[in-house]
Amino acid sequence: MKRHGYHWHMLACVALIAIAAFAFRRPEPTPEPPAAPRPQVQATGETREYTLSAAPAPWELRPGLVTDAYAYNGQVPGPEIRVNRGDRLKVTLVNGLDEPTTIHWHGVRVPAGMDGVPMISQDPVPPGGTFVYEFVAPDAGTFFYHSHFNADDQVDRGLYGPFVVEDPAAPAYRDVVLALDDWLLDASGRRLQTSASEKERDIDNELDSVSASAAEASSAGGGHMMDGGMAMGGSMTGGMGMMAHDLPNDINGRFGDLLAVNGKAGSAIAPVALKRGERVRARLINASNAMTHALRASDGRALKIISVDGTDMAVPKAVGTIVLSPAKRFDLLVEDDGKPWTLESVGRKGIMIAFASAGESEAAAEEWKAATLPALPPEIAHRAPDATYAIATDVPMGATEWTLNGKAYDMENPGAPTKIFAKDRWAKVRVKNASPMAHPMHLHGQFVRVIARNGQLIPGAAQEDTVVVRPNETVDLAVFTDNPGDWVLHCHNLEHEENGLMTKFRVQ
Ligand code: C2O
Ligand code: CU
Repeated sequence: MKRHGYHWHMLACVALIAIAAFAFRRPEPTPEPPAAPRPQVQATGETREYTLSAAPAPWELRPGLVTDAYAYNGQVPGPEIRVNRGDRLKVTLVNGLDEPTTIHWHGVRVPAGMDGVPMISQDPVPPGGTFVYEFVAPDAGTFFYHSHFNADDQVDRGLYGPFVVEDPAAPAYRDVVLALDDWLLDASGRRLQTSASEKERDIDNELDSVSASAAEASSAGGGHMMDGGMAMGGSMTGGMGMMAHDLPNDINGRFGDLLAVNGKAGSAIAPVALKRGERVRARLINASNAMTHALRASDGRALKIISVDGTDMAVPKAVGTIVLSPAKRFDLLVEDDGKPWTLESVGRKGIMIAFASAGESEAAAEEWKAATLPALPPEIAHRAPDATYAIATDVPMGATEWTLNGKAYDMENPGAPTKIFAKDRWAKVRVKNASPMAHPMHLHGQFVRVIARNGQLIPGAAQEDTVVVRPNETVDLAVFTDNPGDWVLHCHNLEHEENGLMTKFRVQ
């Protein structure tokens, strides 16, 4: 009896282990969640109207340095557009340029016809033409708008602006928008046509090869984040490879050496005045064509990231250095402690944003709070990707171009979608980077979350719209396909985008 019982027990154990091992290797597919991971928008019934006139305009970057920019309503960045979540936004674009243009609402889940991609969402707006963009703002967060026509040139000349969607349920902090950019000009302010600044580009390669979303780093043990400027030196240079130098500058990306915040450079960068004890939300936007901006506090204080690409994080993530790739947004929670400090560039010179307290004490500020993102469906980590895109460079007929799966995108004739995704599903998209540069990959119309980098799972990653894929890295992305229509996936290094690194996909 005893022996028999023992055997029984053993057998049951072995069977359980076998089942467990089997289940571990081949997880049962869990049913797809039917509902969107974010609540559908509740329209407020309010409508906000703006007119944006795109036209050449002189722009003063600092006293005595004026450049011939392209501007919305005569200013760089363009006017801040601010609505509440659920408000209807109606923006009339007036094209005062002598070339076509469009506006893209970066990171915003707009209807496909409002997305501003030429030959996909709309026809380019001709010189003298107008177009009305109209949609209900679906998500709160820090977004930006920019030209999507000849974007490498038009955005570089100044056609971008902040788009803030407020969440009435979020802590009621005052906020400031800090849009970062770089300019490549001669001493008299004339725009240089070549991307000649190799030094800046090399710094960028180093920053990009270690950068990743801070929210990813929080669960991946911090491996991707630099914790203070000193961490930059060692490991990076070895890994970046020499091939980046072999690429011509005009395809590497345009890097300027004059850095600007909200259209102002050097001592013209406006300080941020805090009230004693106040909490402020600083909305950082990287509007550069190609440049990655790394920033830290002059006194080494921790920077608290509370939002990534427009989505608030339940728990602020404290880091020594933030690394913003092109098109990325981080919101920082700035808490005044009475001591002045500066937010400044790491690895290069130019961004110096002074924070100092002035004025009366405020009533105690509200504590930070935000909802936790729902977990990804567990099966997505193990199943095969629904689509795979491999990034490479190619040199057909002597002219370098960027390719996805061997094909450079044709702006004039995008052709058939390279992938059709079923609507309201979790899709798994794999991006393989076989090139020597990092690529901030941006997906239009839906949010994405990183599942894994080089096969290593990254649990609890943030919700993003632009994800850096480092040299020789493979990144798996989870995409909830809740926005039907034709969209693009592209690199947000705008020289890469305009030289082939883009593809059209469909959600239906
Ligand atoms: Cu901000 Cu398709 O871009
Ligand atoms: Cu790229």
